Amino acid sequence: MAGNPFTPTFGVTPPLLAAREEELEVFVEGLQDGVGSPGRAMLVTGSRGSGKTVLLNSIEDAALQRGWLVVSATTGVGVAQELAQTRLAQLLHEHDPEARSFLPTGGSASVAGFGAGAQGTYEDRVPRPTLSFRSGLERLADVADARLGTGVLITLDEVHTSALADVRQITHAVQHCFREGRQVAFVAAGLPSSVSDLLSDQVTSFLRRAERFVLGTMPEAAVRAALAEPIKMAGRTIDDEALDLAVDGTRGYPFLIQLVGHRSWRADPDQASITVDHVRAGVEGAVRRAGRMIHEPALRDLSDVDRSFLAAMAIDDGPSRIADVARRMGVDLNYANQYRRRLLDAEMITAAGRGRLAFELPYLRDYLIDHPVTRALSTNNPQT
Ligand SMILES: Nc1ncnc2c1ncn2[C@@H]1O[C@H](COP(=O)(O)OP(=O)(O)OP(=O)(O)O)[C@@H](O)[C@H]1O
Ligand SMILES: [Mg+2]
Repeated sequence: MAGNPFTPTFGVTPPLLAAREEELEVFVEGLQDGVGSPGRAMLVTGSRGSGKTVLLNSIEDAALQRGWLVVSATTGVGVAQELAQTRLAQLLHEHDPEARSFLPTGGSASVAGFGAGAQGTYEDRVPRPTLSFRSGLERLADVADARLGTGVLITLDEVHTSALADVRQITHAVQHCFREGRQVAFVAAGLPSSVSDLLSDQVTSFLRRAERFVLGTMPEAAVRAALAEPIKMAGRTIDDEALDLAVDGTRGYPFLIQLVGHRSWRADPDQASITVDHVRAGVEGAVRRAGRMIHEPALRDLSDVDRSFLAAMAIDDGPSRIADVARRMGVDLNYANQYRRRLLDAEMITAAGRGRLAFELPYLRDYLIDHPVTRALSTNNPQT
């Protein structure tokens, strides 16, 4: 029997990538349809563990399979220059017959001509002319087009305003390539709060026009397949009732699919079939783990007031009314509404109809109920 097939780790491709057909289709169509196609500029958002990195990885694979050159990075300060000097330079070195004349490195271009010690080769010690991100990308796109009949895909994960200058530099370069008809595709991904901060910056209007994909709750059939098929492929079965319970336990959330699957499998790996009892234990363990891996970091990103807003919501059993939240926080409605807006933008909460608000992250209420913020709030405001 094969080992546990599930992958409850950030950035690790799951055994079955569920519900991403549309995103991949738009991207692949973009490669085929050419400059100006919506798939040539995509922006993916979703909460922690919604599958952004894994989607970027499959997009990169789809591009590589079609002969495209891929330059991928996690966003950080200095990333544009770093890419120019490492990945772009390396690809130019591999594919551009003229590269040696302006990229005077011997072996791996990632050495970048810096820091060569006494053992450095002659080429290492020759200073490399600085390649800007834009000129590197333009040159590489021309080479890919002329020699391979393809283009260059740039992916940026974890986009964030702290690296605004780099995001601008990269998106400007991509935009120029588009204008000049070069074969370039661009896909960025980030948390909703980071992306909404970025989009309010005028200079990133390019990103605002990109084709937007929000990775939210998955359809039930997709979750079912994402749980059942890997189990079958790995040589075990799962009872129908147990599968229903597991599907329900994930709340349609990608990271929980892996956590619930992994934990349910682990309950008794020697039995041929996964039972309701195994899944019960699995969901319980998964929710505990989600607290540390999803809820804690998500709450850490927020301000104190944001957190007490959420804690005030957690007191209700279902969707909350803004008036109740304001009263529990001891603030007026205008003030509460400002925070409501912020949390909606950050996709921590959603509108649940008739002016009510619900939590976006699965099991966040349960987590908050066990959290000191909620307890302090409910004892300070005994009337709630
Ligand atoms: N489409 C999918 N089907 C099944 N499982 C998935 C899918 N997408 C992601 N997962 C699983 O969910 C987990 C989180 O995925 P990923 O690391 O891509 O999330 P993320 O959105 O990048 O999170 P973060 O914001 O923390 O970087 C991984 O364990 C991954 O295997
Ligand atoms: Mg990620």
